[in-house]
Amino acid sequence: MKRLLLCFSVCLLIIVHANKSEAQSLVNKATEAKITALLKKMTLEEKVNMIHANSSFTSGGVPRLGIPELTTSDGPHGVRLEHGRGWGTIPNVEDAGTYLPTGNTLAATWNPALGYAFGAVLGSEAKYRGKDVILGPGINIIRSPLNGRNFEYQSEDPYLVSKMVVGYIKGVQDQGISACVKHYAANNEEVDRGTVDVIMSERALREIYLPGFKAAVTLGGVNTIMGSYNKFRGQYATENKYLVKDILKGEWGFKGVIMSDWGAVHNTMEAMENGTDLEMGSDIGTPPLKFNKFYMADTVVTLVKNGKLPIALVDDKVRRILRVMFKTHMIGDKRTPGAYNTKEHQQTALKVAEEGIVLLKNDDHILPLQKANIKTLAVIGANADRPNAMGGGSSQIKAKYEITPLQGLKNMLGNSVNINYAQGYTIARNQQADAQMIQQAVDAVSKADAAVIFCGWTHGYDYNNWNDNAYDAEGVDKPNMNMPFGQDELIKAVLKANPKTVVVLMGGGPIDITQWVDQSKAIIEGWYPGMEGGNALAKIIFGEVNPSGKLPMTFPKKLEESPAHKLGEFPGVNGTVHYNEGIFVGYRYFDTYKVEPQFAFGHGLSYTTFKYDNMSVQKMPGKQAIVKVTVKNTGKVAGAEVVELYVKQDKPSVERPDKELKAFGKVFLKPGESKQVTLKLDASSFSYYDEQKKAWVADAGKYNLLAGSSSRDIRSVKSIIL
Ligand code: BGC
Repeated sequence: MKRLLLCFSVCLLIIVHANKSEAQSLVNKATEAKITALLKKMTLEEKVNMIHANSSFTSGGVPRLGIPELTTSDGPHGVRLEHGRGWGTIPNVEDAGTYLPTGNTLAATWNPALGYAFGAVLGSEAKYRGKDVILGPGINIIRSPLNGRNFEYQSEDPYLVSKMVVGYIKGVQDQGISACVKHYAANNEEVDRGTVDVIMSERALREIYLPGFKAAVTLGGVNTIMGSYNKFRGQYATENKYLVKDILKGEWGFKGVIMSDWGAVHNTMEAMENGTDLEMGSDIGTPPLKFNKFYMADTVVTLVKNGKLPIALVDDKVRRILRVMFKTHMIGDKRTPGAYNTKEHQQTALKVAEEGIVLLKNDDHILPLQKANIKTLAVIGANADRPNAMGGGSSQIKAKYEITPLQGLKNMLGNSVNINYAQGYTIARNQQADAQMIQQAVDAVSKADAAVIFCGWTHGYDYNNWNDNAYDAEGVDKPNMNMPFGQDELIKAVLKANPKTVVVLMGGGPIDITQWVDQSKAIIEGWYPGMEGGNALAKIIFGEVNPSGKLPMTFPKKLEESPAHKLGEFPGVNGTVHYNEGIFVGYRYFDTYKVEPQFAFGHGLSYTTFKYDNMSVQKMPGKQAIVKVTVKNTGKVAGAEVVELYVKQDKPSVERPDKELKAFGKVFLKPGESKQVTLKLDASSFSYYDEQKKAWVADAGKYNLLAGSSSRDIRSVKSIIL
């Protein structure tokens, strides 16, 4: 009897679990039947109306059948302001929301749980604003420091991207809203993004550029994907047979919607046959709107009527859109309400900034500054006082509020400390150093007990002119990696006046600091840290928060030393870019070719110290392994350490990177406390993509497993024989 009961409850559990996952997945029998019934009732014109845009952010519905329009909104780090059905700004609407830190900051937390929290804020606010799809996350690989959109993306490392993206997607989609992973694929430069043809090896595609997207589909269950503007091996990516039909929908079995980037479709037959489901974009020409002239509009109706295009292709696209609509309660069940600008959402923005800001250098323990020792603090730099929410292009956010670094310091110090602010430089294209402003900054620093300078890159924030003065922005790449606006001269002068000045870099990634790095003692990477960024920076500078962020990309010393520039091409020649560096992107290049970076991938300091001990490896069946390592906080304050586990094949049969990140874990420790971190490896952790076999291969033999605090700071090594 007992046995029977046990069997019954196990069976029940299996059924409940199956039903639950069926409800969460895009495809289930009941929904497919409902979709089939709807398709039967629809005219050809109604179907075609659903597969192209009908305003700047919507695509068509079928009101008579209760099918609504699909409403999308940027973007990766907040719900964009309202543009109505065109591109204007709409007065008197509630569209100032939570402005989260940008993609780099999120990735720098190395905390997938924060990825989930981040996504949940977006999903909830999108729902409140009546959106169905949030156009994020952006996960293109950071191939070159110059890409204008690096700030929106996450990392140079496909494993880190894969881990962070899954949390983000689930966070959004658990709110009943679709995420849209973008831009699929190989969109790694902006300057000629609409036309450039990207040529890379199959191995680079599989090992570097696709894993994030694959994880989004197979592990994240993402509902929608955005095809990119560029060409891939001669054919536009959005309508690319190999990328979309063969890999995304074929190999990975994607059952959701791939929409085009705005205006990224170029050919009706290619898009229809190769799998593009939805053509998005702006109206063509001046009003009246001509969305019916899109590639996937009237032409499709004509082709189907003439028997040149099978209706089944249209039906499949409509079916996919309807699947997403059912899953996100656009049809059928009612949606739960969303929430806007809650304290919790703002706290998530703060938390991500606190965990994502990276302490790059801290000689002589200059940081944290001690409030009690300071009567006057000099704050230097235009970036101290610059809001960033509206910068960068389509990811712009109208923020409910934005705490700039200067405001954050004021909040922290109140009236107890006198803040002496000097702008130091002017943000304007081709602006050179200004002797008078430098003198004002030097004077401020000389009279103060401590000094902080905020410098680095900028975003434009004028909506009508978002590229103006913007180095981190859509549609443009940086001309070089040099500090703009004469900042080098300013920083050198300030460091001369007070060598203990804390330098805070803002922006979407590496910048050349070689002119003064040896003169400086303390450097922080502040990214674009969102609406609470100023508070997070102040807390880190004054030690209320112990930094735990780690670089998600290598900071090279010189641009020429980074692989796309040294071994490859950027941005290409005559409209074609060859990724000659292949799989040697980021630290895979620096560590293999022994090029000393300015700051290594995975680097990030803390106000405490950590000791790694007792590393062990347990081999499991099926080329799996469990790695354990004990981490002890050996300092005086609480802090968090990210244990990074790299795999290095001992005698590879093919060329392989010196080491590759294959697992990581973040652990929070009180002073003196120890915790064991358990990391899992599987066959994919040891594999490379074999172009001949067209398969992933894990050679038999010895592999070294390297546990460390960055790719260049390995603390413990064990090996395993496969
Ligand atoms: C961008 C996308 C964005 C879309 C809609 C395009 O220009 O590349 O990332 O989602 O516009 O604003």
